[in-house]
Amino acid sequence: MSERANQLISDILRRVHEAIVENNVTYEEYQAAKQWFIDVGAAGEWPLFGDVFVEHVVEEQAFSNRSGSQGTILGPFHLPDAPLLDAPFELPHRPDESGDRTRVTGRVTDVDGRPLANANLDIWQADAEGRYSGFMPGPPDGNLRGQVRTDTDGRYEYVTVIPGPYTIPLDGPTGRMTAAAGWSPWRPAHIHLIVSAEGFEPLVTQLFIDSSDYLDTDVAGAVKPELIVHPEPVGDGEFAVSYDFALAPARTPAIA
Ligand code: BEZ
Ligand code: FE
Repeated sequence: MSERANQLISDILRRVHEAIVENNVTYEEYQAAKQWFIDVGAAGEWPLFGDVFVEHVVEEQAFSNRSGSQGTILGPFHLPDAPLLDAPFELPHRPDESGDRTRVTGRVTDVDGRPLANANLDIWQADAEGRYSGFMPGPPDGNLRGQVRTDTDGRYEYVTVIPGPYTIPLDGPTGRMTAAAGWSPWRPAHIHLIVSAEGFEPLVTQLFIDSSDYLDTDVAGAVKPELIVHPEPVGDGEFAVSYDFALAPARTPAIA
C-alpha cells in the first residue's frame, strides 16, 4: 500500500462525490457518464483528454519554482527522432507548403545568460491548416518536424511556416464532451519545442503566434503571456521571430 496513492485517490473520489451531491446528479447522468468513459477508452482518447484538460495544471504545479524560461504542456503530438537539420535549417516541408515563411532565431543560455553551445531544439508544429504530420490526414510523415543545435554562442535558427490554429478532434468523445459543455474546441496557433542541454532541465514549451485567434480561450489552457511571439514582417511576404530560452540547472537527485 502506498500512502501517496491512498491520499490522492481518496481526495479525487471525495471531490467527485461532493460534485455529485452538490449538483444532484441523476442515475441517467451517471449511466451517460459511464458510457462516455467506455467511449473514451474505445476511441483511445484518454491521452488526448488528459493532455487537453489536465496536463496544464500538472505543468504549472510541477514547474512553479523552476528558474529560466516558461514551459507549457507537451500535448499528444510529439514524435521522437525527428531529423537533425543541417544549414540552412529548414523544417522538412512539402514543395508547395502553404503558410507564411518565417525564420525563427534566438539564443539558448543558462539562467545567468551564459550561452549554451550544442543545445538541442526539438521542434514540431501543425501546418497552416492546423494539421500535424503522423496524426492527421494531409501532411506527409515528418512534415514540419526537426531538430537543430545551437552554435558556440548558443545561437540557433530555423525556417518554417506560421502554423494554423486547430481544434481537438470533434467527432470523438472528448470533442462531444467539449461541445456538450459549450466550450471552444480550438487551440491557438503555436510551435512546440523541447530545448535541452547536458546538465540542464529540459524545457518543454510552445511559442504562440500573437495574431492567432483563440489565445484567450485555448481549450488546453496552455497559453502563458511570456510565450506569445510577434512574427515581424521582413519583406517579400516573409516573417522573423526571435526568442531566447534560458534553461534551469538539472535537479540533483535526492540522496536516498
Ligand atoms: C497540442 O498542443 O498539440 C495539443 C495539446 C493538448 C491536446 C491536444 C493537442
Ligand atoms: Fe500543438
